[in-house]
Amino acid sequence: MKQQLEQIRQAALCELDGCAALPELDAVRVKYLGKKGELTAILKQMGKLSAEERPVIGQLANEIRAGLEEAISAKSEQLKAAELEKKLENEKIDVTLPSKKNALGHKHPLSVVLEEVEDIFMGMGFDIASGPEVEWDYYNFEALNIPKEHPARDTQDTFYITENMLLRTQTSPVQIRVMEKQQPPIRIISPGRVFRSDAVDATHSPLFHQIEGLVVDKGITMADLKGCLESFAKRLYGEDTKIRLRPHHFPFTEPSCEVDVSCFRCGGKGCPMCKNEGWIEILGAGMVHPKVLKNCGVDPEVYSGFAFGMGLERLTMFRFSIDDLRLMYENDMKFLSQF
Ligand code: PHE
Repeated sequence: MKQQLEQIRQAALCELDGCAALPELDAVRVKYLGKKGELTAILKQMGKLSAEERPVIGQLANEIRAGLEEAISAKSEQLKAAELEKKLENEKIDVTLPSKKNALGHKHPLSVVLEEVEDIFMGMGFDIASGPEVEWDYYNFEALNIPKEHPARDTQDTFYITENMLLRTQTSPVQIRVMEKQQPPIRIISPGRVFRSDAVDATHSPLFHQIEGLVVDKGITMADLKGCLESFAKRLYGEDTKIRLRPHHFPFTEPSCEVDVSCFRCGGKGCPMCKNEGWIEILGAGMVHPKVLKNCGVDPEVYSGFAFGMGLERLTMFRFSIDDLRLMYENDMKFLSQF
């Protein structure tokens, strides 16, 4: 019986050693130490032993049981540790790997420049007004002193919804809408989309943007116009910028002018940007025509004002040295991500 017990101890330890996982280990425990286990079976036969043999065998059996229990719990600890190790290894995170970047969009160059222009004029006390893109012939032309058959309509051909309703060709109708609603003092700019039936090329598009300006109050003169636009040009293109007023004609301003800025690339010496002229035209302006004031119920004997209008695309092209207008409408990320 002693021999049998020793064999069981050897076999059990050997099997324990070969266990690679906890369920296997539990099977070994049941096989030897369980109620129907091999060691238990031997102990059940103790009754057959003589009175001298019984304590000796009993002690040996207890020793073996204790030894096996200890070996099982040691092996169990070892297997648990190994399992944890494996789990940690599998879940390892490499914090040095590059992260997934969320691509953030950014402002379109036209929006960048528009916001700059808005900031500059708001800083001078201007409000921002807006008007409809689908406009009445009356506001777009008639009230601006451009009657039917006026030659100025030729250069501003547009898309007609009906005979008297059209896509506005300029932001100037907002002048009329503002003056109809509000008595002076008036100080607004009005950015927005305008339309002309022009063919697309590097400098033309049937849809583009203008920024209108209007100031009406008592005692407003051409000097105010010049001072205001000079401050604007210096803020947008730098302190050294000069402006020049050239006589021009618009039906709704009198006198009228076009405003040039000294070339911000060469400072006025002449370069490809300013086509060697040293000056770049950026807007049209003038003193609001008395007829226009009257059309809106503003008394030209009491009030005077100036107005100006500029093309946002032009400003933007100069600001970022963009040589083709079409780039701004093509949604090409390679182009847009540069600004
Ligand atoms: N509306 C004119 C244009 O589109 C620009 C302008 C606005 C001129 C205001 C004078 C005063 O050409």
